Amino acid sequence: MKLDGTHQRSITRTADGAGARILDQRELPWVVKWVELRSVHDAEVAIREMWTRGAPLIGATAAYGLAMALAEDGSDAALDAAYTLLLESRPTAVNLKWALDQIAAAVRPLPTVDRAAAAFARADAICDEDVALNQAIGAHGLALFRTLHAKHPDRPLNILTHCNAGWLATVDYGTATAPIYLAHDAGIPVHVWVDETRPRNQGALLTAFELAGHGVPHTVIADNAGGHLMMTGQVDAVIVGTDRVTANGDVCNKIGTYLKALAAKDNGVPFYVALPYTTFDASTATGADVPIEERSGEEVTHVAGEGGRIRVTASNAANPAFDVTPARLVTGYLTERGVVASV
Ligand code: MRU
Repeated sequence: MKLDGTHQRSITRTADGAGARILDQRELPWVVKWVELRSVHDAEVAIREMWTRGAPLIGATAAYGLAMALAEDGSDAALDAAYTLLLESRPTAVNLKWALDQIAAAVRPLPTVDRAAAAFARADAICDEDVALNQAIGAHGLALFRTLHAKHPDRPLNILTHCNAGWLATVDYGTATAPIYLAHDAGIPVHVWVDETRPRNQGALLTAFELAGHGVPHTVIADNAGGHLMMTGQVDAVIVGTDRVTANGDVCNKIGTYLKALAAKDNGVPFYVALPYTTFDASTATGADVPIEERSGEEVTHVAGEGGRIRVTASNAANPAFDVTPARLVTGYLTERGVVASV
């Protein structure tokens, strides 16, 4: 999407084709820094340490990581080792396993010398497909937004979102943000309430950066503000992304999503989850079966970018990074095939 005045994807191959180029998202919005991943170990570190993040982008990065591993050694042993290394880099987003399985299935029947080229080609295709999926999600979401805006045509459509499910979390356009960008471009007045999304502040740092870059009116709010805004009629719909939707429709997404869904339900605000098929995990029965990433307590006790510690006591900090929103709280799933109502 728009960055420095040009349209760019969040991940591409390096100029020589042998690596992957990503933004170091730990530096945003202060510094726009592109980095080149040159090995499977680079890719694993970039995912684990969240230089790159967001379910679809994690998958795309892992796909290139596996291709880079095969360029060094195309054997079955190297494939299996790199697959496991990358799979364990982050536990919750199912797109990671999906992408690794895509690459492994594409290369396993091939002679070892042909595997790297085939893996890079498949990784490129995964990226192209992600862009197309998000465009389709956006088109269906645009129709939904038109309907929602028609209920109050005299004022902007107020959307609340949590975390970053934007182009920085995907290859382009984003999932939850795709309809926002399309609606804005189509002349529908959209205003976005951006949850800051403690503790890593993906909303305040990344979603706000994206929306500002695209000229979409938005307001960053403390995570605790959403319930009040919904109760006072200032939110027309909530739309979030997801790291995994399980067979029963439960939605695993950034910690705090569940509370937004509860507040939305209590106030009759529609709650939509945007996802491509690559985030649907039919093999996991319910949200209770999804591994919830536990990240460092330092993310709670320290604020990124300012170097300041916000708790000076010796208290422990816990940091579950995701939660599960039960399917019963979801109004609809916004997919590349259209809006699927929750049962
Ligand atoms: O920990 P993160 O920043 O990777 O979490 C990202 C999210 O929770 C997103 O909402 C999700 O991955 C969907 S991205 C389209």
